[in-house]
Amino acid sequence: MNRTATPPQRHGKSNDRGAGGFKSLIYAFRRSLNERHKFAKIFRERLTEPLHLNVLAFFVLLFGKFHHKVEFDLVVRQQLAFSILHAARQAATRGLRKISVVEFGVASGTGLLNMCAIASEVMRTTGVMIEIYGFDAATGMPPPIDHRDHPEHWQQGDFPMDVDRLRNALPAFAHLIIGDVKDTIPSFLSMLSRDAPLAFVSLDLDYYSSTKNALELFKGPAELYAATVVLYLDDIVEESTNPWCGELLAVREFNDENAMRKISPFPALRTRRIFKNALWIDQIYLLHVLDHEERKPRIRRLANVLPNEYLGMRPEARQRADQRPVEVPVDGIRG
Ligand SMILES: C[S@@+](CC[C@H](N)C(=O)[O-])C[C@H]1O[C@@H](n2cnc3c(N)ncnc32)[C@H](O)[C@@H]1O
Repeated sequence: MNRTATPPQRHGKSNDRGAGGFKSLIYAFRRSLNERHKFAKIFRERLTEPLHLNVLAFFVLLFGKFHHKVEFDLVVRQQLAFSILHAARQAATRGLRKISVVEFGVASGTGLLNMCAIASEVMRTTGVMIEIYGFDAATGMPPPIDHRDHPEHWQQGDFPMDVDRLRNALPAFAHLIIGDVKDTIPSFLSMLSRDAPLAFVSLDLDYYSSTKNALELFKGPAELYAATVVLYLDDIVEESTNPWCGELLAVREFNDENAMRKISPFPALRTRRIFKNALWIDQIYLLHVLDHEERKPRIRRLANVLPNEYLGMRPEARQRADQRPVEVPVDGIRG
């Protein structure tokens, strides 16, 4: 569990408490002031950024649209906002109308409610519908198996859930799946549909053993997933984090055991961000579905021609947009 500021929010409808709302940010900031480590985090991450970017961010906060606020890290649970918006945009470019999003580890549900508020904004921004699933035992953490579960941090019974209260607070597009993830994933996998492929998963189960079981979700038929599924790994930035315990061990074993499904960090994400000091950037990974239809060799368009101004070849020499060929699998082409 990463201890970031988490204001309670209403959700399912647009209001100033929602994702990116001015009041929700002020609320989060005031809460941070009461907890020294949170204030230190804000101080380190934001006040060490260039002054002109912080000034610009202030205007974005007042006048910007939701996606501008995500760009400027102005949404509570920025890691979820970036991930869900990115996943939905990827889906939109592929013509998908709906995606599924999962939170592993819900506890009292502040993160899930933040996720719902963000998803409402993302649906409005992209037109892509989102279905959210929150997985949790509800009775709190199970017993740790050994040192690999970081028992120095977590213990049995931590983080129980008030299921009825949380369920009543959720919008219609969010669902709780209660039980140990090793028991609930198989039936969830069988109801997941290619019409709403899995596009983002937040992993916050704290333990190695629970995360290992959760990663079973990524072993279904390729059409149930986006070609790259955005992942957020909550528990990989503690001082005690190491590749022999916790989420990193579960990910390493998953990669060793699966030839066509691989998890690796989101490449060059820090370079793409405006505010580069944010810790969450290190926590964004991708599941690469290597056996996905999109990754099969095909002729999808006319060949690209690189311009070369030294030879007088201008960019217009490239393929014309109106010359789109019919998509042909490579093995259907005769030599
Ligand atoms: C740190 S809390 C999640 C916090 C939440 N993501 C948030 O940000 O508000 C971890 C949760 O993982 C759940 N959990 C851990 N192992 C589990 C398992 N094997 N099956 C189901 N839930 C599990 C616990 O019940 C606990 O509520």
